[in-house]
Amino acid sequence: MCVNFFALYCSCCVVEINQEFELEHLQNRVCDILTCVCCLWLLGCGNSSLAVDLYNDGYENIVNMDYSPVVISNMQKRHKAVCNIEWVVMDAMDMSAFPPSSFDVVLEKGTLDALLVAEKDPWKLSSEAEAMVDIILRQVIKLISC
Ligand SMILES: C[S@@+](CC[C@H](N)C(=O)[O-])C[C@H]1O[C@@H](n2cnc3c(N)ncnc32)[C@H](O)[C@@H]1O
Repeated sequence: MCVNFFALYCSCCVVEINQEFELEHLQNRVCDILTCVCCLWLLGCGNSSLAVDLYNDGYENIVNMDYSPVVISNMQKRHKAVCNIEWVVMDAMDMSAFPPSSFDVVLEKGTLDALLVAEKDPWKLSSEAEAMVDIILRQVIKLISC
């Protein structure tokens, strides 16, 4: 199963792109939204170059989270020279460490894919998977400032 699911949530805006992509694809689809970004939350950042690519393109105040301490530690070391990018170990199922309205944009790429990998059909989720996505998206909504 591979959903190749990308979603960007910004002030109730959701964009999904069913393809592999990096920053060049993102810019074409959502640059109007991202130009006003004050604070960006990358949910399940992994070892993607997206945060640093965004930073190099002028976006600052980026917080990356992933539940893997190994991933976060490696990314911290790899990008220690880059200011204004934070790396946080956190589970998407509990993002309560950040207060409501902490971010302008929550961006995830491939994280829901990973979370739904055991599903037989990504368009007909099991009730457990639906509940999990519901928990995550409700927190995402809280994290976004409106
Ligand atoms: C397929 S990778 C995508 C990584 C990156 N976003 C990219 O585009 O390359 C999925 C990432 O989600 C992270 N992840 C999976 N479940 C998570 C959870 N419950 N909370 C936070 N991160 C999670 C994994 O550790 C992994 O780094």
